[in-house]
Amino acid sequence: MDDVAELRAKHLAAIAAAADEAALEEVRLAAIGKKGEVALALRGLGAMSPEERQVAGPALNALRDEIASALAAAKAALSDAALSARLAAEWLDVSLPPRPAAQGTIHPISQVMDEMAAIFADLGFAVAEGPQVEDDWHNFDALNIVPEHPARQEHDTFYMARADGDNRPPHVLRTHTSPVQIRALQGQGVPIRVIAPGRVYRADYDQTHTPMFHQLEGLAIDRDVTMANLKWTLEEFCRAMFEVDGVELKFRASHFPFTEPSAEVDIRCSWKDGQLKIGEGDDWLEILGSGMVHPKVLAAAGVDPGQWQGFAFGLGVDRIAMLKYGIPDLRAFFDSDLRWLRHYGFAALDVPTLQGGISR
Ligand code: PHE
Repeated sequence: MDDVAELRAKHLAAIAAAADEAALEEVRLAAIGKKGEVALALRGLGAMSPEERQVAGPALNALRDEIASALAAAKAALSDAALSARLAAEWLDVSLPPRPAAQGTIHPISQVMDEMAAIFADLGFAVAEGPQVEDDWHNFDALNIVPEHPARQEHDTFYMARADGDNRPPHVLRTHTSPVQIRALQGQGVPIRVIAPGRVYRADYDQTHTPMFHQLEGLAIDRDVTMANLKWTLEEFCRAMFEVDGVELKFRASHFPFTEPSAEVDIRCSWKDGQLKIGEGDDWLEILGSGMVHPKVLAAAGVDPGQWQGFAFGLGVDRIAMLKYGIPDLRAFFDSDLRWLRHYGFAALDVPTLQGGISR
């Protein structure tokens, strides 16, 4: 019996002293593992006299159970302590102010799109949307651009691949926002007044062209909308957009398959010493195409051209951002250079409104 008391004292002390789970495992092996002291003592019961065994057997079994539960309790305490230590170490004060280094800004293109939406909302235009991967019917055919029309080449179209053996015409990355005219007319009918801002794609790359760029389509159809309404709308838009006196526009007769008559609009500007300035100088920058929606386009979208007419335009958003904020190279828009963004970007809460000042 003295042996049992000794074993008990020794192993319980070792459990109390164990500093981690590895030390506990050592104690377990030394006490109640297959070759542990308590296990060996239990095995020695066979050699005892029946009287001895009757006393020692229950005592050793009780000791084995006691050690096992002391081990379990010690293990739980250790892992609680480990969790508490980890929680204390990984504590994070979510009420700390953000570090300035992590602060982003609104990209000038997003800003300009928001400004345009605010101006056109004031003129009664709602926002419409369409897919960037477009079918060739919406991107071309419905807009009166027949397959052999040179415009299909002029647009430097990106074609999507079809599976082998699928001979249907490929989808395209939309080359302009004009297919949204068709979708909006089909979806909402007439009369209609919408703008459609978004990304468009053409295989082209230099100082004033990037393979992905942004347009803002405008469409107004009613019973008596005319070219005069178009001219007024665009002049009104430019005045609000550029926030400078004497913005000068030039309406130049042009041709688009989906408008008749058509006009391109240039804006007076200067490029001096790599600086682009609006409203002065002898240079002109083309900012949009426009015209009266072609009767065939109305018919393709299910609108009776004998009853309805109106105008459409497509603005180059990136170019307007360059002009407005004096950004000389279009490619900088897509460099993701944080220093550039901090220089030209806008605070997230500078939401453009006509009352509050369009860009401040
Ligand atoms: N879709 C034409 C382009 O991308 C612009 C345009 C839109 C012209 C609407 C006329 C009317 O060049």
